[in-house]
Amino acid sequence: MKRVAILLLALFVTLAGSALAHDIILPPSNTNGGPEAAMIFIQGAQIPTDRYLPLLREVQNKSSLSLWVGVPQYFLDIAEPFQLGSSIDFVLQEMHKQGLKQGSPLILAGHSLGGAMVQDWVAANSHRVSAQVLLGSFLTRKYREHVYPVPTLTVGAELDGLCRITRIAEAYYHQQMDPYPGMAAEDFPVVVIEGANHMQFASGNPPPLVKARDLDSEISPNEAHDAISKVIVAYLANQIEKKAIIMSGPAELLAPIVSSLQLEGNYNLKKPCYNDAPSSACQVGCPWSEMTSQKNMSDLPKNVSVRVMDEFHPVSQTNPIHLPHILNNCTKDQENCVLEMTTVTEAVYEVLDRLDTGFFSVSAYELRTKMNSRQASYLAAGFKDADFQKLDANPTRCADINQLAIKWALRNAPVKSVARYYSIGRQLVVGDDLGPYNAGPFWIWNDMHYNNQKDAEGTLQRVVRSPTMRTPIPYFIKAAEGFHYCKVLSPARALEWIMVDSLRDENGYASLRSAASSYYKL
Ligand SMILES: *[C@@H]1O[C@H](CO)[C@@H](O)[C@H](O)[C@H]1NC(C)=O
Ligand SMILES: *[C@@H]1O[C@H](CO)[C@@H](O)[C@H](O)[C@H]1NC(C)=O
Ligand SMILES: *[C@@H]1O[C@H](CO)[C@@H](O)[C@H](O)[C@H]1NC(C)=O
Ligand SMILES: *[C@@H]1O[C@H](CO)[C@@H](O)[C@H](O)[C@H]1NC(C)=O
Repeated sequence: MKRVAILLLALFVTLAGSALAHDIILPPSNTNGGPEAAMIFIQGAQIPTDRYLPLLREVQNKSSLSLWVGVPQYFLDIAEPFQLGSSIDFVLQEMHKQGLKQGSPLILAGHSLGGAMVQDWVAANSHRVSAQVLLGSFLTRKYREHVYPVPTLTVGAELDGLCRITRIAEAYYHQQMDPYPGMAAEDFPVVVIEGANHMQFASGNPPPLVKARDLDSEISPNEAHDAISKVIVAYLANQIEKKAIIMSGPAELLAPIVSSLQLEGNYNLKKPCYNDAPSSACQVGCPWSEMTSQKNMSDLPKNVSVRVMDEFHPVSQTNPIHLPHILNNCTKDQENCVLEMTTVTEAVYEVLDRLDTGFFSVSAYELRTKMNSRQASYLAAGFKDADFQKLDANPTRCADINQLAIKWALRNAPVKSVARYYSIGRQLVVGDDLGPYNAGPFWIWNDMHYNNQKDAEGTLQRVVRSPTMRTPIPYFIKAAEGFHYCKVLSPARALEWIMVDSLRDENGYASLRSAASSYYKL
C-alpha cells in the first residue's frame, strides 16, 4: 500500500514537473526591419524544448526576417498528433498577444519525431503555412504520389544515427533528381550537414535512445548550429522574401548513395514492374544482377561476352514461375561470341523499413538472384566437358559476387567516409556460402546472414554469408538443371554499412528492435 502511494506520488511529481514547463516564445531578436514571420518548432522525442534554444536563437539572429519563434511543450516531451493543432494555435495566439502582426507568414518546423508529425498537420492545413523545415527528418513516402502542398526544406546530418543519411539521399533523389511532375525542386531542397549528428540539431545531453543510436559527431555544437542556421535562414529568405539562394547537397555525399540505390534497383526509388508492362514509372530488372552478379558467376574466358537481362519478380511466385535462361549457344572456336542470358531478382527489405522512420537500413537486406550456373555458361560457350563439381560446387561462388559489392562501395564512397570506416568502422567481410539449399523453397526462406564475429586478432567484424542453391547438368529435375542462386549483397547495403552502421556499436537486432519499439510505440 505504502509502495503504491510512493509510486503515485512519484507519478504526480513527474506530471507536475511537465505541467510546470512552459511553451517557449521568442520575440524577434533583431531589429533590422525585415518582414515579420512566425516559426513554430516541434520538439524531437524526449528532447526538452529548451535544448533547441541555442539553434533557434541563432536562426533568429541570422535571419533577415523579424522572426518570432515558438516551441510548444508536450507532455513527457513527446509530440502528440492529436494535440498538435491546438498547441500550435495556442502558441500563435500568445505571439499575437505579444505583438506578432496578423497575417504574418507561418513556418512550421520540427526535429526528428517532431518533423515526422508536423508534416501531417502541415499537409492538412496547407493554406495556413508558407514553408516547412524538417531537421533530422524528411517527407515520408506516403506523400510521394502527389506534390506535397507546402514548400519544405529537408536537413539531414552526415553522422545522424537515427535519421540516416541514406534515407536523406532517398529524399534527395525524389525532390531534386527526379521530382514528381509539377514539383518545383527549388521549393524542396535537401541539405546534409557534414560531420554533424542527430543530437546537434538540439543541444546538451541526448535522451537514452539517441545516446544509444547516434553516431559520434566530428564538428562542435557551435559549428553545427552555425551550419544548420545558415541553411534555414537561406531557405526562409527564398520562401518568404523570394530571394534565390541556391541550396542543395552536398552532392558528393548524396550522389554515391543514390547511385548505389539505383544499382540495387531500390524499390523506393522506383517500384519494380514485376508483371506489369514496362514503363518509366517502374523498373524492369536489377542493374547489379545484369552488370555484375551473373557475369561473375559465369566467369567465362575474356573472348566470350555475356549480355544479361534481369527481371524483378517475387522469387517465390510459381504461376508463372520465373527462371533464369541462356538464350543461345556458341561453339568453342567462334569469334566474338555473345551469350544472351536472363536472370531473376527480388530485392528484399527490412520489415521495419516500411515504417519509414529513417531508423532502419533503406538498402535491400538481400537481392535474391536466380542465375545460370557457371557450368551452364561454359556448356553454352562450347566447352563440352564443363564439370559442375569443379565449376560450381565451391563455397565462394556467391561470396565472390558479394565481395564485389563491398569493393564497389569502397571505390565509390566519399573519400572521408572510407577513411572513417577504416579507422573506426566495423569491417564488413564475406564468409563462405551456406547450403546448398536445393530442396523446395529452403533457399528462399533462408535469410542472408549478417553476423558479428571476431577475427584472428579478436576484433569484431561483420560477416555476410549467402545461402545458395545450385543444380548440375544433367539434374534429376530437368526443368531445374543448370542454376546457381545466390542471396546477393546489394552495393547499397555495403555503402550504407560503411557510411552509417559500421560506425555504431550495436548489440545485434534484439536490442535494436526493443529500443525502436519503445520509441515508435510499435
Ligand atoms: C544573438 O544576437 C544577440 C545580440 O546581438 C547576442 O547577444 C546573442 O548572443 C546572439 N545569440 C546567438 C545564439 O547567436
Ligand atoms: C545449346 O546446346 C545444348 C547442347 O547441345 C542444347 O541442349 C540446347 O538446346 C542449346 N540451346 C539453345 C538455346 O540453342
Ligand atoms: C577463347 O579462350 C579460350 C580459353 O582461353 C580458348 O580455349 C578458346 O579457344 C578461345 N576461343 C577463341 C575463338 O579464340
Ligand atoms: C569474380 O569475383 C572475384 C572476387 O570478388 C574476383 O576475384 C574475380 O576476378 C571475379 N571474376 C569476374 C569474371 O568478374
